[in-house]
Order: sequence, then structure tokens, then C-alpha cells
Amino acid sequence: MASEEWTTAAHANRYLAMADAVPHRAEGEGVLSEQVPRIARRILDLGTGDGRLLALLQADRPEMRGVGLDFSELMLDAARDRFAGDERIELVSHDLAQPLPALGSFDVVVSSMAIHHLEHERKRALYGEVLALLKPGGVFANFEHVASPTHRLHLAFFAAIDEPLEHEDPSDRLLDVETQLRWLREHGFEDVDCYWKWLEMALLVGSSPPPDGASEPAVRWPGGRV
Ligand SMILES: C[S@@+](CC[C@H](N)C(=O)[O-])C[C@H]1O[C@@H](n2cnc3c(N)ncnc32)[C@H](O)[C@@H]1O
Repeated sequence: MASEEWTTAAHANRYLAMADAVPHRAEGEGVLSEQVPRIARRILDLGTGDGRLLALLQADRPEMRGVGLDFSELMLDAARDRFAGDERIELVSHDLAQPLPALGSFDVVVSSMAIHHLEHERKRALYGEVLALLKPGGVFANFEHVASPTHRLHLAFFAAIDEPLEHEDPSDRLLDVETQLRWLREHGFEDVDCYWKWLEMALLVGSSPPPDGASEPAVRWPGGRV
């Protein structure tokens, strides 16, 4: 099984304890939230962890229904605690190394710091599966840990987040932004771009083709086509 570190309490708890301290993270998450239409009704979060991203999106979208998917029972337990009694959120145990289960269709699919744990070929296949789950004009927003173009920049990232390189997650399978954007375009996503980036953290966004006959651009800014 890939990423099995996430099934150990030490690894999961270490991440949860430092998640808020990652520099610029809130900035990137804010740009992600801007890309998610306020009227989105059904949102899937891949590698949801303790449900951080679903909770962030819920704050501005009280009507949304969320599905959070993760393979770590420890993380899912943290998400269950967070959303206890909240019937709008469904949590599903699933290993992303395997094809996505039948979950119905979604207005939006998001992910945060999770897909980089998968082998590259699996990342690529997963992007295709995401497109198939999206309704026409739906949005995929992947806030991701990506590869640096050089080892010096990789070292600079670890220095900037104040972590020794020995703390590098052994389950990381980092991949550059350009390759991932190309794969999204090849699958048929539209308006694909890197919408935000700081060193090894990047927000990759694409949308599924709009409904037949719709020609307007995919403007998703608050106050835009939402
Ligand atoms: C760095 S954490 C991010 C959690 C959350 N998305 C957040 O932003 O706080 C990575 C998450 O991906 C999950 N994950 C890693 N590999 C996975 C896999 N193969 N299938 C499902 N979840 C996986 C881990 O269990 C963990 O919850």
C-alpha cells in the first residue's frame, strides 16, 4: 500500500499539529475557495484528512453537501469528530491508489496536499476519473505539494517552512506543475492553469467542459458566474 505512514498515529498527529503553521497556506486556500462557486451543492474532497478543506468551504456555503474520502482511519476519525452530527458531510474510506468508487456526480472536486502521495501514473489516471465525476462546467481545484525544478529550490522550500530535510515525508511522490497541467489538458479539462504558487505549494485548477451551448468563460470570482 502506498503512503502507509498515514495509518500511524505519530505521522497523522504530527501533520495535524503543524498544518496551520505552514507559511502562506491560508493564502493558497483562500484562492482555492474563490474558485469554488458559492452555489456548488455537491463537493468531493480527495484525501480529506481531518476535513480541513470541507470545513473551510462550508463556512461560505452552508447549503453544500460534502463527501470526504481518505484511507487513514486515524484521519477519518479526526474528520468524524469535526463533523459529528453534521449530516451534510459524508466520510468515505477509500485508497486513492485504487479507482474512485461510484459516488455520483459533483459540482466541484477539491484536494489539498494529498494527491502527491500517489505514484505518478496513478495521479494521471485519477485526474481522468475526476473529470468523469464532474458535472458540465464543474471545477477541479487541487492545492498540492509539487516538485521544485532544482534541488537547491527543494532545500530552500524546507528552509522556508522551517523543517529539516530529514522530516521529508517518505510517502511524498512530488511532481512538477507543468506535467500535471499538461495531463489535465490532455484529459479534456478547460481553463487549466496554476492559479497560485509559493515554492512547492501550488493550486492547479481546471474545469469540465460547460453544458452544450454555453459559451461564456468560466468566471468563478465572487460576484461572477456563480
Ligand atoms: C498532508 S495530509 C492532507 C489532509 C487534508 N487534505 C488537509 O489539507 O489537511 C494527506 C492526506 O492524504 C491522505 N492520503 C494519502 N495517501 C492516500 C491514499 N492512497 N488514499 C487516500 N488517502 C490518502 C492521508 O491519509 C492524509 O489524510
